[in-house]
Amino acid sequence: MQQSIPVSIPSINKFTVPSMPVNDIDDDEREALIPRIKQLLKEKDAAIVAHYYTDKDIQILAEESGGYVSDSLDMARFGNSHPAKTLIVAGVRFMGETAKILNPEKRVFMPTLKADCSLDLSCPPDEFARFCDEHPDRTVVVYANTSVQVKARADWVVTSSNAIQVVQHLMDEGEKILWAPDRHLGHYIQSLTGADMLMWNGACVVHESFKATGLAKLKQKYPDAAVLVHPESPAAVIAMADVVGSTSRLIKATQELPNQSFIVATDNGIFHKMQQVAPEKSFISAPIGGRGATCLSCAHCPWMGMNNLRNVATALEFGNNEIVLDADIAQKALRSTQRMLQFS
Ligand code: 13P
Ligand code: SF4
Repeated sequence: MQQSIPVSIPSINKFTVPSMPVNDIDDDEREALIPRIKQLLKEKDAAIVAHYYTDKDIQILAEESGGYVSDSLDMARFGNSHPAKTLIVAGVRFMGETAKILNPEKRVFMPTLKADCSLDLSCPPDEFARFCDEHPDRTVVVYANTSVQVKARADWVVTSSNAIQVVQHLMDEGEKILWAPDRHLGHYIQSLTGADMLMWNGACVVHESFKATGLAKLKQKYPDAAVLVHPESPAAVIAMADVVGSTSRLIKATQELPNQSFIVATDNGIFHKMQQVAPEKSFISAPIGGRGATCLSCAHCPWMGMNNLRNVATALEFGNNEIVLDADIAQKALRSTQRMLQFS
């Protein structure tokens, strides 16, 4: 198996992580916003597509109003198949961009365009293009958590739902791979497939914070709990998992496994859906590095946390935060993004 080669690539410390936004919507405001948003969705022929990490009020509203809550692959599928003329994508920017790439005829809005992703930020398009130019013999496979420019440069886009299968398929075809941006997911795939993968050095600030030593202590305290881990986590944390997988896979595991309790190493926004599908079970957040003011993310993505009912309403009402992409770049990104859907 070929080891990843250290290359001159950007440090993930080049960007700043915002502090966790405070959601100050009280019960009265919530009760006023929900019917207003439902009315606007009808008037604008719109549907909400939300990620499992978003605020639970948004997840409930999306499902009540005929929209959808899921992982990043299924969000892309839903946006592509739903007849609504307008999509409100509650999540982070790459999810809104993916919806627009796949549906150029639809209008795609986001509650906020400031909702970045540390993986996307750790892979600037120009530096990534140079990296690809240096390795023309490799098939470029990028995680969906990237910009439209990076997707335009890629041969394949994947998510955590299908990355292993795509890499295995390419390996069977004799391809050598250039993988970006998440090094933890990349190393996990490499360890399972033995593929020849040259890695970019990005990471998710939320998942990178999970700590194996703290997890080992927690496992001693809850010996009957199953450990569920998203593959953006460090290898030592993945090694302790009973189930490793996408957000949808981890939610499914709470129903499939006989355990009554689960230690969960992913964003704690997922607990809403886990509690919904397995109400009799209990969920414990995996330990992170630092607590309170000292932890970078405290097991919740600060960019996902920027979405709330108020900015969903204003995006719908005033057409704020529309995703607008350069047509040529979006056309190029469509090729690699469609491959992802077709492969699945
Ligand atoms: P999923 O595709 O598993 O939902 O993951 C998206 C993500 O951003 C995880 O941090
Ligand atoms: Fe990106 Fe991590 Fe937030 Fe997911 S949790 S959107 S990978 S920063």
